[in-house]
Amino acid sequence: MRDTPDLALVLRPIRADLAAVVRRILQELRDPVARRVAYLVTAGGKRLRPGLVLLSGLRGPSPDRRALRDAAAAVEMIHTATLIHDDIVDSATTRRQRPAFHRRWGAERAVLTGDYLYASAFSLLARLRQADPLRIMADVCQQLSRGELLEVEARYRLDLSEAEYFDIIRDKTASLIAGCCQIGASLSGASPRILRRLGEFGLNFGMAFQIVDDCLDLTGDPRRLGKSILADLDKGALSLPIIYLAQTLSLRQRRTLFEPLRRRATDPASLAKIATAAHASGSLGQAMRRAEQFAERAQACIAQAGVDGFGQTYQELARYALVRGE
Ligand code: FPP
Ligand code: MG
Repeated sequence: MRDTPDLALVLRPIRADLAAVVRRILQELRDPVARRVAYLVTAGGKRLRPGLVLLSGLRGPSPDRRALRDAAAAVEMIHTATLIHDDIVDSATTRRQRPAFHRRWGAERAVLTGDYLYASAFSLLARLRQADPLRIMADVCQQLSRGELLEVEARYRLDLSEAEYFDIIRDKTASLIAGCCQIGASLSGASPRILRRLGEFGLNFGMAFQIVDDCLDLTGDPRRLGKSILADLDKGALSLPIIYLAQTLSLRQRRTLFEPLRRRATDPASLAKIATAAHASGSLGQAMRRAEQFAERAQACIAQAGVDGFGQTYQELARYALVRGE
């Protein structure tokens, strides 16, 4: 599971479709009030979620490419809205190597642009005239908000458990990734078994993806990530490596190391100390092994389902979740 797959290479079979999806988004947001969204949409981004809609849908003898591209555009719009809103919630300064949306245009415009994006995405989905994509994304949005809310509620809770953390990331990240796979499968008329398996792939892949994201918050290169590091920890968001670290420390060590967090008075030096301890104690490695288990489960879902078309691409995606640097 170790050779680094480049995401653009992994998604090469659907490159033309992904380019069409970006054009579709910009077309859908041509109202002058929404044009600033292009600032984020054209700043890069992995296109992972629309990629999964397309991969899961471009199967069978005559896939409905237009519907799939529209659904892929809708999920990327939802994802973009979550990033705009999340950066306000997290007081983030940078996204995709650019000032975060709210830093450039202020929180009022950022909240409302995010709302506009959600509504536009659902309008696009409604025009597909199929119940499943709408139902799936409505449920996903409920889960996304629940996960983000739970995360805010859990801030600075130094006793946060692994199970609680998994509950949060399942909702705030994995649910959307699973929903993308299900929407694609549903639009291609996949059997309930394949639809379930692809959804399970997405859920496990999403768990691995978010655990790695949280590890990168401690160790990543801000230039490659396009956002600041140690930012989650600075806001009191305790992630898996920190949960494992807390379990390995004695009560006294824990008190000393986490005192700045307890006082809600972290600074770069105290944050760096915690990150170094997570590394040195093996907690970071332990979290990465957990991510590997989720990625392996994701791969097994595809192997067991015998998903026709793009089977290799799914396997490479699961590897990418573990070794990505951005
Ligand atoms: C990023 O996590 C945040 C998310 C994946 C989910 C954000 C969800 C919302 C803002 C609620 C959505 C509301 C509706 C109506 C659907 P992170 O902060 O760990 O990642 P980051 O480091 O990239 O910011
Ligand atoms: Mg954030």
